[in-house]
Amino acid sequence: MIKPNRNPLQDSDGAQSGRLWLNVDIATMGDGARSYGEIRDGAVVAEQGRIVWIGPRSEVPAAYRGFAATDCHGGWMTPGLIDCHTHVVYAGNRSDEFEARLSGVSYEDIARRGGGILSSVRAVRQATEDELFTQSSKRVERLMAGGVTTVEIKSGYGLTLDAERRMLRVARRIGNQLSVRVSTSFLGAHALPPEYAGRADEYIDACVAMLPALVAEGLVDVVDAFCENIAFNVAQVDRMFDAASRLGLPVKLHAEQLSDQGGATLVARYRGLSADHVEYLSTEGIAAMAKAGTVVTLLPGAFYFLRETKVPPIAELRRMSVPMAVATDSNPGTSPMLSVTQALNMACVLFRLTPQEALAGATINAARALGLASEIGSLEVGKAADMLVWDISRPADLSYSVSGSTPAMRVYNGDDSSRAI
Ligand code: NIG
Ligand code: FE
Repeated sequence: MIKPNRNPLQDSDGAQSGRLWLNVDIATMGDGARSYGEIRDGAVVAEQGRIVWIGPRSEVPAAYRGFAATDCHGGWMTPGLIDCHTHVVYAGNRSDEFEARLSGVSYEDIARRGGGILSSVRAVRQATEDELFTQSSKRVERLMAGGVTTVEIKSGYGLTLDAERRMLRVARRIGNQLSVRVSTSFLGAHALPPEYAGRADEYIDACVAMLPALVAEGLVDVVDAFCENIAFNVAQVDRMFDAASRLGLPVKLHAEQLSDQGGATLVARYRGLSADHVEYLSTEGIAAMAKAGTVVTLLPGAFYFLRETKVPPIAELRRMSVPMAVATDSNPGTSPMLSVTQALNMACVLFRLTPQEALAGATINAARALGLASEIGSLEVGKAADMLVWDISRPADLSYSVSGSTPAMRVYNGDDSSRAI
């Protein structure tokens, strides 16, 4: 509920470059992800897109009091949401497979029959870069309307150098043209394309060979792979990760989604950023991740949409202090969803995260999962001024709504002109 204006500091004529937000309760998420890091009746000061001061309104230093001020009407401020795992660049959809699954065919069966990921590969290979951009940017705008200020976007529906490049170029273009930060992941090792049937090792050679060109074009931030019995085995992913490491790139992995392949232990061996899905994660995998500082990224949308029953080992992850991120996994096959707060609700209801853990999962821990925790993920001096104001009574409201929430104000890099996206 928006409370009436509580005597905000004076408005200014905007002559200074700095900006001030006040009349707001703040969940900074800056306390090592253990609490909301609350500041009641707080204020934030930003200059040139960065936070330069944050604290109680009564303590705003005199030097900032004349800055152009935005009244947040007593709402709650959080860091911009970070969706750290998406396949949001794609063409077409797979509602036909959704219907087939509901009449009893499994996701794995569809994949083995040449559908699943390979259906999206056929659609992406046929799409031009402009067509891909038009379809995909609309989806990112939906994520942004729900509070996303940073989104990770994977390739993986091209599976040739040209088509993977096209996907990654579209991801970069989204970051350049919309008010959103984009982190790209090369996911060449997502599925075996039909032209390599029976020759998975040779396809991994081809992926390894694609990497240097894509990296030279500035298209790859992280290397990802799908380690599963319907995708690639640990030895094959190891070769992909080795190639990434030689180029100085961090790695992450789709690990233990449908079975325990030992992928989490592998990604930890590379001190990887994250192991994602992890429904079948073993105790050994958890211990390896805890030691390496690797984040788990929970993807309750895929769990829900595939009607999975094996819940990730949350209690053990908590006990071993493995940081937990939460993301949408937005994709046409296993998680056609476009709201991070809806994913937070699913993480609480389906996986029993607390609302505080869920929000940390889409802010500070998601930033860690992207290797960007020094830049984004919490509201602290020196970080980007990516901030949301919500018309809510308490932070738990963001995980409470089954249908997702929409911020009343969205500030990206200190700029709130993109409020109505
Ligand atoms: O994260 N698990 C592998 N990849 C995606 C699904 C991609 C698809 O089915 O199109 C996932 O669930
Ligand atoms: Fe995924």
